[in-house]
Amino acid sequence: MEIIIQSTPEDAAKVAALFIKQLIERKPNAVLGLATGSTPLGLYTELARMHREDGLDFSGVTTFNLDEYIGISSEHPASYHRFMQESFFSHVNVPTKNIHIPDGNTSNIPRFCERYEEQIRQAGGIDVQVLGIGHDGHIGFNEPTSSLASRTRIKTLTEETIVANQRFFTLGESVPHHVITMGVGTIMESQNCLMLAFGAGKAQAVASMAEGPITAMCPASILQMHRKTLLITDLPASSLLTKSAYYQHVYAHKPNWQRF
Ligand code: F6R
Repeated sequence: MEIIIQSTPEDAAKVAALFIKQLIERKPNAVLGLATGSTPLGLYTELARMHREDGLDFSGVTTFNLDEYIGISSEHPASYHRFMQESFFSHVNVPTKNIHIPDGNTSNIPRFCERYEEQIRQAGGIDVQVLGIGHDGHIGFNEPTSSLASRTRIKTLTEETIVANQRFFTLGESVPHHVITMGVGTIMESQNCLMLAFGAGKAQAVASMAEGPITAMCPASILQMHRKTLLITDLPASSLLTKSAYYQHVYAHKPNWQRF
């Protein structure tokens, strides 16, 4: 795992966006795995700026989102369909036919999930999967004790995640308890993982993920076994890493040919 510590979330988002820009320039038909939540917002803003000002072209890009709530309409303000439309897709030129987000209203969840996996395979697999991390170490909505080999499926959210996500729903409205999420095994098959983590509240999860034991109690820790994971944090989120001075030294002395 490569760990890049930046002073601010804005700086971190720029590094992450540059990684994706270079991938798209190298491979115009790149397949992006996308996340929702607060964490990737700066990244999406920066990618939209690159599209607007630098002509970054998403017309050949295909996307697959990690997850969606079950039982709310895709028009609901807190649905991940709406979130993605408002924070990213309406600002770039990914063709609508290339956008994939789990359907939380499907009448046959197992069949939908199998088909989602098949669509990822047919697209040639995910080139880079954007990830945030939950306070409990979840990735996608793979909560603690999720199988580290799991595939896209239904999951029940923990109380902690429901409370954390209440901020996206109006007062008095309850957060759905069930979601469709890519599995940990699905995420592990992507060529690159780009994990972003910001703020002191994520410091414990980041330390467990990067330096703790590999355990289903912290699903993100399996990324220690991933062939190419880039973890980009701000300073507060890195504060519990025991080897942060080493990670900063590595980044500062990266050979030029390895820089992006
Ligand atoms: C979102 C997702 C989740 C979030 C995580 C962190 O698609 O899969 O794993 O990345 O819950 O959420 P934020 O970024 O809101 O702190």
